[in-house]
Amino acid sequence: MIRCSDDLKMLEKTRLENWIPYFQKGLETRLAQYEHGQLHKWQKLLNALPDISPSVVNLSDTVKIGQKEDLTAEQHQMISDIIEEFHPWRKGPFALFGHEIDCEWRSDWKWQRIVPHISPLKNRHVLDIGCGNGYHLWRMAAEKAKRVIGIDPSQLFWAQFQLFKHYLPQYPLHLLPIGIEHLPAQMISHGFDSIFCMGVLYHRRSPIDFLIHLKSLLREGGELILETLVIEGDENQVLVPEDRYAQMRNVWFIPSAPALEKWLARTGFKNIELIDVNQTSPDEQRQTKNMTYQSLSDFLDPENNQLTIEGYPAPKRATLIATT
Ligand SMILES: C[S@@+](CC[C@H](N)C(=O)[O-])C[C@H]1O[C@@H](n2cnc3c(N)ncnc32)[C@H](O)[C@@H]1O
Repeated sequence: MIRCSDDLKMLEKTRLENWIPYFQKGLETRLAQYEHGQLHKWQKLLNALPDISPSVVNLSDTVKIGQKEDLTAEQHQMISDIIEEFHPWRKGPFALFGHEIDCEWRSDWKWQRIVPHISPLKNRHVLDIGCGNGYHLWRMAAEKAKRVIGIDPSQLFWAQFQLFKHYLPQYPLHLLPIGIEHLPAQMISHGFDSIFCMGVLYHRRSPIDFLIHLKSLLREGGELILETLVIEGDENQVLVPEDRYAQMRNVWFIPSAPALEKWLARTGFKNIELIDVNQTSPDEQRQTKNMTYQSLSDFLDPENNQLTIEGYPAPKRATLIATT
């Protein structure tokens, strides 16, 4: 059973105190519904991690915790085994005591594209919806965010995050293994200053309701950073795939960037700004030693890499910022 009581305790007497009962309820609901078959094993491995204070920490231009010399050979073997056990690694890269974890995605590239455009995170309370294994939470810590909550229903990604949190427990970062549907649908006091929602909107069956929900989680004047798949086209163009898109299930709506701006305006967001459009390259999303399954190049048409294997435009992602 996953317990997040330490995380929730750290929210007491902070601006996010009012959120504790909602997170608590969400965790109870989600964990009663689903427990991954490997969870018990993952928890045992995490509990056995050696307690070492890392001699170096760099979260500013990479996520690097500790160096090789910090550990004995036996401790290195434990870290190596746990990294292996937590396959597949989707978001990264990470370096932990000299172990380079080469993940499917160069999440650092996404961060570099976005961070120059957003409101400085210093002292802000941040929510990252669909945060994966929390790669970007560490980068937000380097930007001096006051406190960051990441939510993601994947229990493997929760376990991956705990591997790093074990070595930096004092950082104000929390990954709760819940989905957006476990957060309150109505506005509660003390909304977040910034909400990141990257790579999630196209998985939602009701994107407009989803945007309304995101807005209700922000404080007045708070900032949404929204990244999602887009197609070329005008404000009235949206792709609804027949079935899979680039082999992904559950892809429902891929709007054009102008359509996305219109959706944001219709749902009451202000100061809407398109800050980046980027076609995903097979250098940014690829098979690696720590993610040995198929990846982007297997999902593109072998004759024409501008199309997916299903014949749709190849993945292109837009990032927009907007305020409430
Ligand atoms: C494409 S990944 C994006 C990860 C990260 N935000 C990034 O941009 O690198 C989408 C993530 O959304 C998560 N997810 C799926 N359903 C969700 C839900 N209902 N609520 C929140 N996150 C969800 C998945 O587990 C996955 O980690």
